[in-house]
Amino acid sequence: MSNGWMISDNSLDIKELLKNESIFNISNGYIGIRGNFEEKYPDDYPTVRGSYINALYEEVSIPYGEKAYAFPEAMQKIVNIIDAQDINIIVNGEGFSLFEGTVKSFQRYLDMKEGCYVREIYWVSPLGKELKLKISRIASLKYLELFAINYEIEKVNFDEDITIISSINGDVTNFTDDNDPRVAAGHSHILSVKSVELEDEIMQIASETHNSKNLVTVTTKHSLNVANDISFEKTDTSIKAIIKTAPGKAIINFTKYNVYTDSRRYKNPLKDGFKIVRELSKMTFEELKKLQSDFLKEFWSIANISIGGEDKLQQGLRYNLYELLQSVGKDTISNISAKGLSGEGYEGHYFWDTEIYILPFFTLCCPKLAKNLLKYRYTILDSARLRAREMGHKKGAAYPWRTIVGGECSSYFPAGTAQYHINADIAYSYVQYYLATGDFDFIKEFGVEVIFETARIWLEIGHYHEGFFKIDDVTGPDEYTAIINNNYYTNVMAKHNLKWAVRLYNELLLKDEELLNELCEKIALTKEEVETFEKASDKMYLPYDEELKINAQDDSFLSKAIWDFENTPKENYPLLLHYHPLTIYRYQVLKQADTVLAHFLLEDEASLETIKNSYDYYEKLTTHDSSLSCAVYSIMASKIGYIDKAYDYFMETALLDLEDTHGNTKDGVHMANMGGTWMSIVYGFAGLRIKEDHISLNPKLPKHWSELKFSFKYKGFVIAVKVNKDKTEVKVQKPCSINLKINGRLYSFENNTSIEILN
Ligand code: BGC
Repeated sequence: MSNGWMISDNSLDIKELLKNESIFNISNGYIGIRGNFEEKYPDDYPTVRGSYINALYEEVSIPYGEKAYAFPEAMQKIVNIIDAQDINIIVNGEGFSLFEGTVKSFQRYLDMKEGCYVREIYWVSPLGKELKLKISRIASLKYLELFAINYEIEKVNFDEDITIISSINGDVTNFTDDNDPRVAAGHSHILSVKSVELEDEIMQIASETHNSKNLVTVTTKHSLNVANDISFEKTDTSIKAIIKTAPGKAIINFTKYNVYTDSRRYKNPLKDGFKIVRELSKMTFEELKKLQSDFLKEFWSIANISIGGEDKLQQGLRYNLYELLQSVGKDTISNISAKGLSGEGYEGHYFWDTEIYILPFFTLCCPKLAKNLLKYRYTILDSARLRAREMGHKKGAAYPWRTIVGGECSSYFPAGTAQYHINADIAYSYVQYYLATGDFDFIKEFGVEVIFETARIWLEIGHYHEGFFKIDDVTGPDEYTAIINNNYYTNVMAKHNLKWAVRLYNELLLKDEELLNELCEKIALTKEEVETFEKASDKMYLPYDEELKINAQDDSFLSKAIWDFENTPKENYPLLLHYHPLTIYRYQVLKQADTVLAHFLLEDEASLETIKNSYDYYEKLTTHDSSLSCAVYSIMASKIGYIDKAYDYFMETALLDLEDTHGNTKDGVHMANMGGTWMSIVYGFAGLRIKEDHISLNPKLPKHWSELKFSFKYKGFVIAVKVNKDKTEVKVQKPCSINLKINGRLYSFENNTSIEILN
């Protein structure tokens, strides 16, 4: 099944099932439900049966053998919440299961235009009863609390009654794996049932986390198109509806409306649960689906990218964009976690992934959602200030490496707290948003304070040496090299952070002096301090190796021995699962793009020659053990002109989860990589850059593609780009003052709406 808008996988193989639980998650940024089977698998099949609420967390203590000063005491983790997926169909005493009887046909697919995940089954029970089932699920993009399941049941060769057993279950645990640092260890029982209620045939369970006392509820109502007899059974942790349908040939249509609420967003989550489910269950499943497809129509009108020539890729690409939309928090207390809402890998934490890999897509395609992501950082600014004080910094804010509500959740500081670059990454994403939207009102309200406070940290951890401003003992993006001096990425991004702090100070002075004064008073920022920002930025040390003519990753990197790649067996990758960190740190070996990433984000800081030399040098040393790597290598290969390479790296990113190339999609899909796929096309093959006074394109199409089409929003205008072998066409809706450079030549839309140039 393929029309470019469907993801399908009909395998019932054990290994595939686990991966597909992640792939077929349905989420809406608030709730996320893994693609488990309602009726479950056989008992001995591995499964992670999971439902999650974005930013709904439990706080757990971090156990240390040897705890040092200012190590975080506790961390937050995402909670596997009450399971509302269970539905069992009983025919004449036989329960429907895809692992019993005969499966005459089975198809499962995600329809990315309709926003619906479907299983279509033709099943013959062991005693010969034939059933056709269509099971559809949506996590409503309009009503975020709603997870609805619909069954269409056709009795093919019988007309006796069918019983539907539908339950909600609060006896749930989190998934743990002590041997994989990318998955949670310990703390699996973190939620307890507080109440199990039944009111007017509506079922409700409320549960609470033990320490953080976060409450979550699910409230469930059923609707059926045929006469039926319903009864209920309650236990201390679950509640079950037993629905006996009348005999006869009619096609049964059954909908289970599950409404989730929680105490972080609702004043009275229990009452609200009942109220919302009563309201939403007035709509039929078809009506809900219509709202879903209307929502998606608008999303795809900007976000869609079409590639002429490759169907599978086209589908994979849309899947990645669809996942981004599904996973992104729709309020300012939530963000987008490393695995979205598709699994428990990285414990639901938000990383720099958001700013550097994911925000570009939202900034240019859905700026309203981008605003939420940025505002989230503003909401946790106080925690970041507190963390800075804990770290011994007198001023500024130190954003946590991984977090849900603002506290540092990383217990491994060499690849956690030491990644100070997250401060500059956050500042960078505000600046990119500003350049793309021109929205100064937003920046002055929610951005400037963050940029001032993040900038301050560089003065706290850096110092002058031989006339340069240097930053010691940090870790850059490459987590296979830790606690080093003058990481090029960190220094150049810090320089940008400091420079923009000065720029915005001056801009605010001109445009809204009153607000500036208020802000300066609030955070005790003086003009003199801003001058220290300027000086540090101007004098920032950016390591450069004269012999290799590259930017050195840091002061010591180039003098280390090179990792013995030749004698490292394939099965020893990712290295982090096979070698002690110190072994890895001693060598020139990269987990992911570092200097090459800096050259993408701040390309004007280095010459093209340095960028190319650096690419050639670091590429050979990069394992891409992190899923954040290939996209950057693809973008930069496009820039340098290595188009075949750009294409190969792009292919790695586009199908990473669908083909499970990292072997851990079962823990959840890789959100940063998904944002990276979009960037590989828009920043890579199309060569888009958002500059201070113009945008630029440098299109280079891979030979496999006949055409590339995409759009984005810039300063309120929708810009549509079409590239084929012969020409590039750029359109806007109406004449405007946008300056566009294509292949270095400046064009304007002052008197026209379309620019066409030959490639
Ligand atoms: C990467 C980090 C990333 C994290 C979460 C790690 O493997 O090295 O850069 O932030 O995954 O995606």
